[in-house]
Amino acid sequence: MSSQLYEKMNLYLANQEVAYIKLHNLHWYVKGRGFFTLHAKLEELYDQTAVIIDEVAERLLALGQLPVANLKKALSMATIEELEDAPISSDETVQGLMADVEYWIRDTKEISELADEAGDGATADLFNGYLSEYQKLMWMLQSYLA
Ligand SMILES: [Fe+2]
Repeated sequence: MSSQLYEKMNLYLANQEVAYIKLHNLHWYVKGRGFFTLHAKLEELYDQTAVIIDEVAERLLALGQLPVANLKKALSMATIEELEDAPISSDETVQGLMADVEYWIRDTKEISELADEAGDGATADLFNGYLSEYQKLMWMLQSYLA
């Protein structure tokens, strides 16, 4: 049961590693009226992503696992889609973010449940913290587009 948890955590880590660059892409290429708001928000998000990457990797190490620390490997594992190096509108930026945040919410829940089943409360707590942050972000993104 734990091996499935560790695999999912490593996949989550790979996706977060890709997301770190993807958020920079949006931070640099977003265009339009929402530029100043989104440029700043995206910086906040990639800073949070850097924290998540470190926490998940160190949690895996604490559990005796080997976290993915290699971009080639991370890209081969990752399931979130990267973007072209091209301008993107404010609305498309937020819609793309929402698709990824939906993924984070679903995956974060799954990992938290797997951790609970494995009797690993500390990992469940870590991911529950991410879950509430992503749910809040989803509400904010929906409010931006409303
Ligand atoms: Fe910047």
